[in-house]
Amino acid sequence: MLAETVLTPSDLIWPLFIAAGEDGEEPIATLPGVSRYPVRNLPAKAREARALGIPCVALFPNTPPGLRSSGAAEALNPDNLICRAVKAVKDAAPDIGVLTDVALDPYTAHGHDGLTDEAGYVLNDATVEMLAEQALVQAAAGADIVAPSDMMDGRVAAIRSALEQAGHANVQIMAYAAKYASAFYGPFRDAVGSRGLLKGDKKSYQMDPANAAEALREVALDIAEGADHVIVKPGLPYLDIIRRVKERFEVPVFAYQVSGEYAMIEAAAAAGAGDRDALLLETLIAFKRAGCAGILTYHAPVAARLLGKS
Ligand code: PBG
Repeated sequence: MLAETVLTPSDLIWPLFIAAGEDGEEPIATLPGVSRYPVRNLPAKAREARALGIPCVALFPNTPPGLRSSGAAEALNPDNLICRAVKAVKDAAPDIGVLTDVALDPYTAHGHDGLTDEAGYVLNDATVEMLAEQALVQAAAGADIVAPSDMMDGRVAAIRSALEQAGHANVQIMAYAAKYASAFYGPFRDAVGSRGLLKGDKKSYQMDPANAAEALREVALDIAEGADHVIVKPGLPYLDIIRRVKERFEVPVFAYQVSGEYAMIEAAAAAGAGDRDALLLETLIAFKRAGCAGILTYHAPVAARLLGKS
């Protein structure tokens, strides 16, 4: 009766990894309990989301190594893995929202989110042109929300204008506005096959964990450029950022409880250091208390089941 915040399955976005093969699901060793799914398994996943009351899934492809290149051309292939995945979900469950990641890292041979110069430095403006094209390809496949996660400057404006011109006025942009150069992304990079490829780090485009005012500037820019909602990422180590964004800007803010956070909860539970379900629900309500409209979490189906029981 007196709880100030509530958590419901409708707060959750469920990230799913897509396998290119058709041989069944592929477990991810550093994300125990999470697998990559072939496209043919996605209709069942979409129906599972619907049955659990989860409104939206986020799709991430593991592009076959042979299709990765320095120019990331596969990102613009209208029949690439992510586009086939989007169609599979929308055909099976049109009422389930589909969010796609706009960034080049699943497609580049070097694992960076953008195109690079000879020295390996990410090229902002050349990347932004590709990201706008990539968003169009995903929107044409049926994505409801495109989510630029690359942290290039000016990409939200470029994507918004490309979407308008191509007649995708209703496609929303959820911008990864404050995304930190974090040590918590390791299992994700295993899942999309970029960890072994990555040369160097992402500090020239992702944020310094020491900075908070910069996060507010990043969010302000993305909103001014046309973002409908913003993401703070990772989640739990950045609750202060979520709170400040929520207080300063009147847009929905989402937390991405990232792969390393998932792994930390699972490892603690496996070591007997804590109860998995209790740890999970406590972290999720913390995001709501901090001001989140919702949370992207690999634990979405686990949490939705727990919430359905309570
Ligand atoms: C890359 C991207 C990353 C994540 C989502 N999109 C990793 C990175 O920036 O290296 C991380 C998500 C997670 O760790 O769960 N565009």
